[in-house]
Amino acid sequence: MGRVGVIVGSGLSRLQSSGEVDSLDTGITPYGPTSASLRRHTLAGTNIVVLARHGQKHSIAPHEINYRANVWALKTAGANIVISLATVGGIGNRYGPGVIAIPDQILDYTENRAHTFFQDHEPVTHIDFTYPFCEELRELLIHSATEANVDVVKHGTYAATQGPRLETSAEVSKLERDGADIVGMTGMPEAALARELGLCYASIALVVNHAAGRGQGVVTRSEIENVYARGTDRLLDILVAAVPKAEQLGFELPDPIRPGSG
Ligand code: HPA
Repeated sequence: MGRVGVIVGSGLSRLQSSGEVDSLDTGITPYGPTSASLRRHTLAGTNIVVLARHGQKHSIAPHEINYRANVWALKTAGANIVISLATVGGIGNRYGPGVIAIPDQILDYTENRAHTFFQDHEPVTHIDFTYPFCEELRELLIHSATEANVDVVKHGTYAATQGPRLETSAEVSKLERDGADIVGMTGMPEAALARELGLCYASIALVVNHAAGRGQGVVTRSEIENVYARGTDRLLDILVAAVPKAEQLGFELPDPIRPGSG
């Protein structure tokens, strides 16, 4: 039986406070402190652990997040299924503000982030990352969204940018030429680290703004906040439908690759 961890992103504090039971003392991991204490919640009668990615007061910028500590702590708390909630900018026509997507691919433009547990690691180990999200969990999220009557786009290529600034319009054009549909700042290295630890990880992405140059004028805070306000209930509806079933989820991830070991 699985245990579900939820990583909660920007502007999604309503989810942080729903059904909270207590907090776990995760202490300092071998990789340093987590963004916040893990909190135990009950959601739809299911025990889950919740981590605020940007800290309890939303004070940690995307490039400053200790992704390794966060993913490590979730695993240590027993989570083997991790649902990541993220807010993103929309690039393609299908990804306007308010749309919820369950991405299936990633393009990584981040830099200088501690991005692997396999540092100075013996034997040299690679992970397969052909399909960066856990397909069994993606399907469960899509199915749960239908059950909860929430429309989602079932695919999408997520571009992870370094931030904390938003992109230029020309950068967004480049991302689009590369094949990106949505853009955010936290999907990497989080997804790869989860794979390294053998966690079944997938993301629910709420589009909160047109990516730079895709809407009218510049990206504004009020545009983003408006969409948060309208989007969080739908995210919670998906979670409530998904979490009890996620606990039962069987999944298969590719084995790590250790050249020369066999
Ligand atoms: N770009 C990058 N990250 C984001 C955006 C964006 O437009 N919106 C929300 N997170």
